[in-house]
Amino acid sequence: MGRALVTQQALHDHVLRLGQLHPPIPLGSVDRTVRRPDLVRDQFGPVVDYLARVELEVERNVLELLRLLPRANETDRMFYAEVWHPQETHHGLILDRLQQDLGRPPATTDTRTVSAKIRVLGALSHLRPVHEVTRLLYYLTGAATEKSAVLAYTRLSAGMRRLGETAIARTIIDPIKRQEPGHFAYYALAARSMMQHRLLAPWQLHLARVLRRRSFGLVGANDRAQTADFGALVHRLELTDELPAYAHQISVVERELLWARHEGMHVPQYVLKALEEAVDLHAKGGATPRATGGPRRSR
Ligand SMILES: [Fe+2]
Ligand SMILES: [Fe+2]
Repeated sequence: MGRALVTQQALHDHVLRLGQLHPPIPLGSVDRTVRRPDLVRDQFGPVVDYLARVELEVERNVLELLRLLPRANETDRMFYAEVWHPQETHHGLILDRLQQDLGRPPATTDTRTVSAKIRVLGALSHLRPVHEVTRLLYYLTGAATEKSAVLAYTRLSAGMRRLGETAIARTIIDPIKRQEPGHFAYYALAARSMMQHRLLAPWQLHLARVLRRRSFGLVGANDRAQTADFGALVHRLELTDELPAYAHQISVVERELLWARHEGMHVPQYVLKALEEAVDLHAKGGATPRATGGPRRSR
């Protein structure tokens, strides 16, 4: 594979380092100066809302993870419990407070519902061969999610600066943005390590490809309304004309590990299709008629 071997020790050290370098962002470190709340709300209100919700829903993601990976190893446990969960929760709290400072309602989150799909896969994961497939898919999902976050925060930071909202950019978006690449690196390294150690037989890899293709979803888009909201985020961050490049970036790990031998797969079609669908749904005015900007249920 032409890359250094990723050992369990290296993963463990990566997690320790992340914990030491990136404690959760203190809520008190935020400069809550907003120069033009009306303008920020108009331009980026839906983006802040989406990101706040997704960050706060890590509560549910932990429940999902416990179902999906009943045999999660100690490094995975340490990563999600001691690094990822506390950091993401603070991202969510800070963003949710920002949107309320902008005069928007707090995020409507679902922190408890574990979907039937996940419960079924979780039940099957009690069989060790399935567990390892699920574990690879979990890392690939994590990598795509974290890469999406990096892209979104990069665009949002630039957008806030363009509006002259340097306090928001400097004390909210940039500190959050700095914590996401370490999460991405964890999932990328963990997935690569599984492949390097040949933990999956060919039939398991085949199953992983089939499941990935069928189950790929954009982060936080669990129904049609949320998918349309993702489309709104893409639109507000001016990514609509860059969907292939966007898909290319968020699929970087799965292209390397699942599809490297499938020549011509520059971008997995299921990733690009999901993005196009979200943009389409948004362009059509969302999945269901509802007042723009108002509070709503997330499912
Ligand atoms: Fe985050
Ligand atoms: Fe993250």
